[in-house]
Amino acid sequence: MKFFFPLIILAMVIIALSCQNDSPQKEDLALEAAREFFRVTDVTVEDSKRMYLHYCSVCHGATGKGDGFNAYNLEPKPRDFTDSTFLNKADSAYVVKVITGGGLAVDLSAMMPPYGRTLTITEIEKLAEYVLFLSRDSTN
Ligand code: HEC
Repeated sequence: MKFFFPLIILAMVIIALSCQNDSPQKEDLALEAAREFFRVTDVTVEDSKRMYLHYCSVCHGATGKGDGFNAYNLEPKPRDFTDSTFLNKADSAYVVKVITGGGLAVDLSAMMPPYGRTLTITEIEKLAEYVLFLSRDSTN
């Protein structure tokens, strides 16, 4: 018990000090660390859909038909993932490459942006799976 007492005092002092110094910058760092943690942990299917809706649907449309609200603006048009010519040539390695390096990585239009610096490889793989899922699912 004698041994614990100084430790408890020390812990209280540390807590008191860290509360005093609680600047917004510190909070930002904590938030950043939390984001980093989630970036490296596994991504679920719901996450893939959420990411797709967040990053891709503006151009490719919520169900991948190339009819996002930004599509009218673009020439060439964003790919319709449900188009059979896309389905025939696309496998996950190819789609991962397009998402990572953008259209330019596969000799397509630069209107297809690269996401290699924004997303982790796990996130990109999950997005690629989701794109292939949309392209195969004729019910949507
Ligand atoms: C700013 C609009 C825009 C956004 C946002 C966008 N794309 Fe694209 N995407 C395009 C355009 C335009 C093309 C067609 C390029 C061409 O045909 O030269 C394309 C093509 C593609 C292709 C097809 C390549 C092929 O060989 O047919 C894939 C796969 C793709 N995008 C995936 C995605 C994914 C996944 C996201 C989200 C992470 C995304 N795109 C976000 C505009 C966009």
